Amino acid sequence: MQRRPFLQIAALSALAATLSMANAQTTPFKIGLILPMTGQQASTGRQIEAAVKLYIAQNGDTVAGRKIEVIVKDDVATPDVTKRLAQELVVNDKVNVLAGFGVTPAALAAAPIATQSKTPLVVMAAATSSITEASPYIVRTSFTLPQVSVAMGDWAPKNGVKSVVTLVADYGPGNDAEKFFSERFQLNGGKVVDKLRVPLRNPDFAPFLQKVRDLKPDALFVFVPSGAGAAVMKQFLERGMDKAGIRLIATGDVTDDDQLNDMGDGALGVVTSHHYSAAHPSAMNKKFVEAFQKANKNMRPNFMAMGGYDGMRVIYEALKATGGKGDGTALLEKMKGQIFESPRGQVLIDAQTRDIVQDVYLRKVEKKDGQLYNVEFDVIKAVKDPGKAK
Ligand code: PHB
Repeated sequence: MQRRPFLQIAALSALAATLSMANAQTTPFKIGLILPMTGQQASTGRQIEAAVKLYIAQNGDTVAGRKIEVIVKDDVATPDVTKRLAQELVVNDKVNVLAGFGVTPAALAAAPIATQSKTPLVVMAAATSSITEASPYIVRTSFTLPQVSVAMGDWAPKNGVKSVVTLVADYGPGNDAEKFFSERFQLNGGKVVDKLRVPLRNPDFAPFLQKVRDLKPDALFVFVPSGAGAAVMKQFLERGMDKAGIRLIATGDVTDDDQLNDMGDGALGVVTSHHYSAAHPSAMNKKFVEAFQKANKNMRPNFMAMGGYDGMRVIYEALKATGGKGDGTALLEKMKGQIFESPRGQVLIDAQTRDIVQDVYLRKVEKKDGQLYNVEFDVIKAVKDPGKAK
């Protein structure tokens, strides 16, 4: 007599649990994508948004029963705005993941919100080493400046560059590039004649380049963020630095695939170190570049697009691995340790640091089929961020 109601209640609560689970599975899985869509860093937003759309078009908009919904917000690369948008996305829109982040100050501004709300935050662009230490919920699919700069510090002294002046944008990634390039270059016997820093906002390179001309080093090493490379290249050539015997060496942010083809033949021969080139000769990359160009009026994907594309991969696979549950901490655990072939080469999301481990390439600007490309000629395999080596 006593058993029947109990069984009914048990059956009812089991039914309720099933229904609420079904409900959880059918509510959309939301990704809050915060990017600079306007302003000085707009090319980063345009590239990443296009890559995210391409990933969804190729892999479907439903993962483990959850419909994927991407909410794009423009932060104009301004940290106060980033912070407010991240808060709104978490509190009002109830996003499952925060992603994007075109510049370091934006990623750092959103970090505490990821921590407090236990929301995974996928950094697809920003590249200062310390970002992943700002929250245990941050995972990075872009790169770090130390990771790519040490490769140049090894290459340059072996290739006739005995003295350099460094010129970097004066904020996180620039300071990282300056420090890690210089240390390695000096360790290899090179001489750093001067270290120059230009303001991030509306930089005028002219007075700095004049100074470099006067100092006459074998080479000028440059880091400026994606979007600013063409201006550096233009002024470098206009001032006849190359004719004065000063070589330009840089991280690949300067010969950015988004702008390279418009830089003109003066860019030919410039050697850079970086983790992605649209000319990377793998079958997977050829397919990626073709599909990206087809979907985007022939726009060439750059390293920012690569970070966005792989960031989506990391999110999709984590969602699959949690069976579509979407709980922040569970997702984060499944993002850690992912290892996969990307159009840039083999990559790993280091489970300890949550940062990306990847191949770094030395590349030279060459003309292929009438277009300028960063053509890879050497590779350093599986590079961890040296900024984290204690
Ligand atoms: C950054 O702000 O972290 C950043 C932006 C653009 C780059 C590299 C780093 O090309």
